[in-house]
Amino acid sequence: MDRPELFIVHWLHVFLAIYWFGAILFSRVSLFPALRRLGPESLEEVRGAMKAGHGTKITYTAAIGTVTLGWVRGFIDGALDDLGSLYGQLYLTAGILGILMVVYLVGPLYDRPVLNIMYVWAFPVMFTMMVMMRFAGLFGW
Ligand code: HEM
Repeated sequence: MDRPELFIVHWLHVFLAIYWFGAILFSRVSLFPALRRLGPESLEEVRGAMKAGHGTKITYTAAIGTVTLGWVRGFIDGALDDLGSLYGQLYLTAGILGILMVVYLVGPLYDRPVLNIMYVWAFPVMFTMMVMMRFAGLFGW
């Protein structure tokens, strides 16, 4: 294999991203609606227990790891040398958005209503940008 370091960083980035995005999808699509049906106290109680458990630290690690390795993935592949291209623009935008998502997740503004909606919707946007990067050549820019 030509560039094993690129393969390893890419693998780890996508693996951590799957965990982070997967946790959002599962909690928002299945878990929270089910708990809400049991009553608002159930939702708050379980969310409180989840926050206090070690799952939160794993999610922080996955989030920070995803964003850091995303930056590294692009950096070692020369994305910063071509910021005028669609690939470079997507890389920079995703990099900044990723940092904002982590700052929101670990910071004091976590769970503010409007920010929370923006945070959740940032995931499909981010995912789309990732796939667009993969196929950047097809967009003819
Ligand atoms: C919610 C956050 C993120 C998710 C869910 C995510 C997910 C993914 C996925 C699934 C891929 C593989 C895409 C494909 O091969 O079609 C990928 C690739 C990539 N990601 Fe991310 N990512 C996230 C954040 C970031 C951030 C913050 C950066 C930093 C700029 C980044 C940089 C990259 C790069 C450079 C690639 C390789 C694109 C290529 O050349 O094919 N990612 N990401």
